[in-house]
Amino acid sequence: MSQFQKKSYISRLEYLSPDIVRITLDSPEIARIAQPGQFVMVKTGNGKDPLLRRPFSISQVSNDRYFQILFKVVGRGTSLLAHCREGENLSVLGPLGSGFQVDCTGSHCLVGGGIGIAPLLFLAKQLSRICTGNPPLVVLGARTGEELEPLINDFKELGLSVHAATDDGSLGHHGFVIDVLKGLQLAADATTYVCGPHPMMLAVHLLCKAKNIACQVSMETHMACGMGACLGCIVPVEKGGYAHACFEGPVFDAEELLWEVK
Ligand SMILES: Cc1cc2nc3c(=O)[nH]c(=O)nc-3n(C[C@H](O)[C@H](O)[C@H](O)COP(=O)(O)OP(=O)(O)OC[C@H]3O[C@@H](n4cnc5c(N)ncnc54)[C@H](O)[C@@H]3O)c2cc1C
Ligand code: FES
Repeated sequence: MSQFQKKSYISRLEYLSPDIVRITLDSPEIARIAQPGQFVMVKTGNGKDPLLRRPFSISQVSNDRYFQILFKVVGRGTSLLAHCREGENLSVLGPLGSGFQVDCTGSHCLVGGGIGIAPLLFLAKQLSRICTGNPPLVVLGARTGEELEPLINDFKELGLSVHAATDDGSLGHHGFVIDVLKGLQLAADATTYVCGPHPMMLAVHLLCKAKNIACQVSMETHMACGMGACLGCIVPVEKGGYAHACFEGPVFDAEELLWEVK
């Protein structure tokens, strides 16, 4: 699989909320070949602070030229990125990893929590384009409506019906996405595609396992190199040993992983 290390021009930088930022990068080489679920490693500062690139999912592509990352400001790297300006260049490595596996013969359910919603928009667009007549169900959650609203607008614009859940009840169901998912009739041929906090992904995996429904999860582990050189991203697997989330993932069949059920 091809990968590029490119200076990518920031064509747009938008604050969707005080701490959620969307950056549109002009990078045809990456945009043309990226697949939903893949990510890029971005150099967030000019010098050695931070030294390591930061991983971000590709949240959508357009016109074979642009791709977007959507991120929450949580620390030094994301704070530096949020203070970039349109017209600057970012050093980006990608597209990396193995993305979602799509089979149009069945139905689809996308489940996202918090900023884990980012890669699901690209997937929703691809499903809407190639699996026509079979629109995916979308279940999205976050702590508050203020956090969730900017993340779900793009899904609504695709004409998809979005089931929302918030911890504080300010938007949609008052509670967790798993409660919403339990109330939905998932077809036996459905695949769920999940990205979000680990407990949420575990809960969805267990529900799907009980219903014998396929489940793919995107593991957003800590990553240092993004390409198999450091072991920083390893996750335990059911057959024994570990897998690298950076190149064997970040998307895995949930059944392949060894989940620690507390
Ligand atoms: C494949 C992949 C895709 C990702 N996609 C996105 C995305 O689309 N949008 C987005 O906002 N974030 C995404 N992340 C997480 C993102 O990489 C981290 O939030 C970012 O690296 C934090 O950098 P920082 O320098 O701002 O924070 P740091 O200063 O490095 O850390 C700040 C805090 O965030 C925690 N943190 C850092 N990385 C992670 C992580 N991977 N998981 C959980 N906690 C973490 C640290 O433990 C610390 O408490 C993704 C991660 C991976 C591995
Ligand atoms: S992030 Fe270095 S091996 Fe995966």
